[in-house]
Amino acid sequence: MRTQVCIIGGGPSGLLLSQLLHRRGIDTVVLERRTREHVLSRIRAGILEVGFVNLMREAGVADRMDRESFVHEGTVIAYGDEMFHVSFQEHTGTDVIVYGQTELTRDLYDAREAAGGTILFDVDNVVINGADTDAPFVTFEQDGRQERIDCDFVAGCDGFHGVSRQTIPLTVRREYEKVYPFGWLGILSETPPVHEELIYSWSERGFALCSMRNANLSRYYIQCSLSDSPEDWSDENFWEELKRRIPSEAAEKLVTGPSIEKSIAPLRSFVTEPMRWGRLFLCGDAAHIVPPTGAKGLNTAASDVHYLYHGLAQFYEEKDSEGIDRYSERALARIWKAERFSWATTNLLHRYPDQSDFDLKMQRADIAFLRDSEAAQKVFAQNYVGLPY
Ligand code: FAD
Ligand code: DHB
Repeated sequence: MRTQVCIIGGGPSGLLLSQLLHRRGIDTVVLERRTREHVLSRIRAGILEVGFVNLMREAGVADRMDRESFVHEGTVIAYGDEMFHVSFQEHTGTDVIVYGQTELTRDLYDAREAAGGTILFDVDNVVINGADTDAPFVTFEQDGRQERIDCDFVAGCDGFHGVSRQTIPLTVRREYEKVYPFGWLGILSETPPVHEELIYSWSERGFALCSMRNANLSRYYIQCSLSDSPEDWSDENFWEELKRRIPSEAAEKLVTGPSIEKSIAPLRSFVTEPMRWGRLFLCGDAAHIVPPTGAKGLNTAASDVHYLYHGLAQFYEEKDSEGIDRYSERALARIWKAERFSWATTNLLHRYPDQSDFDLKMQRADIAFLRDSEAAQKVFAQNYVGLPY
C-alpha cells in the first residue's frame, strides 16, 4: 500500500490531521492500535479553545459541535468558601466551548468514514522505518498478516505511550519531565452541573474541579493520592469529599447521582525536543503532556495539527518545505507557554504533601492577587482561551 502521509494513532490529533489533509487533496492512512469503540469509550478533555473550534470548522466537521456545545465566557475560581469570576470575554474578547473529546472524536470518525478515508483499526507492532531517509515506510500486523505502507511522511499521533517518539534516537531526542505527587479522580454522572460555569477550587483537603458535558451530564474531579484506585472510592465517598472541597454555596446546590464512569489520571508535565526527525513529525500527546489543570492537553494537540497541516499543504501545493522545516520550532514555542500555564495553575490550586505554612501563605497570596488584579486576570484569561497560533 502507498499513501502520502501515514498517520500513526486514531485519536483526536491523527483524525483531525487526516481530515484536514483530505480537504486539501492529500492522501492519508490512519493506523490505530485499538478499536473505534475503545477509543470512543475514553472520557477525557472537555474544554476547547477557539483555535480548535476553527480547525474543526476548516475540517468541515463542526456542525454538531456548533449546535450542541456550550459557550463559556469565563470561569469561577474558589478558595475555601470564597468564589470569584474571571471573565474571558472581558479580558480577551474570546470564549471557550464545552464539547467532550469523545463527541469530537466521533464526529471526526464519521467524517473520515463518509469521505471514504482509510483508518485501519486493531493494528499491532507498528514500526516506522527509514524516517531519516527520503523513502520512509511503516510496517504493522493486522489479522495476523504483516503489512507495509510506503509514504512521503509519517505523522506520529500515537499518544504518550506510542512508538513514534521512541523511534527518534536518544542521541537526537531530549526529554523534559516533571511528575506531580498526586492524581485526579474523575467521575461522570447524569446530573445537572452544579453551576453554569466551571469551578476550579482550592481547598485545605485538596483541589476539586466542577465541569460538565451538557445540561444533564456533569464531570467532577478531585485531587487524590497516587496510591488510590477508582475502586477505593464509592460514589457516596466521592460526593462527600467533593462537597467538602467546594464552597458551601455550591455544595448545597450539588445534585448527586450514580457515576457512569470513574477513573484516575496521574499528573505529569512532559516535553520532547525536537518534534521532527527527518520525515517523522510528532503531534499531540506523543510529544508533550500537561497536567490537566488548565485544560490544555487536547488544545495543544490541535495547535500541533495546525502547524503540521499547513506545513504539509505548503509542501504539496507550493513545493516549499519551509513549513515542515520550521514545524518543530513553531509548535514548541507555543507548547512551552501552555506547559508553563498548566504547571503554574497546578501549583496555584493543589495541596502538595510537603507544603510548609510559608508555601500555603504564598499560594493564598497568589490566589488573592488573581482575585484583585485586573492585570493578573487578563494574563489568566489569555492563557486559558489559548495563545494565538
Ligand atoms: P491520544 O488521544 O492518546 O490518541 C493516540 C491514539 O494512538 C490512541 O487512540 C491510541 O490507541 C493510539 N496508539 C497508541 N499507540 C499506538 C501504536 N503503537 N500504533 C497505533 N496506534 C497507537 N486533557 C484535557 O484537556 N482535559 C482533561 O480532562 C484530560 N483528561 C485526560 C485523562 C486521561 C486519562 C488522559 C490519558 C489524557 C487526558 N487529557 C485531558 C489529555 C487529552 O485527552 C489528550 O491531550 C488528547 O487525547 C491528545 O490527543 P492525541 O490524539 O494526541 O493522543
Ligand atoms: C475538564 C478537564 C480539565 O482538565 C479542565 O481544566 C477543565 C475541564 C473536563 O474534563 O471537563
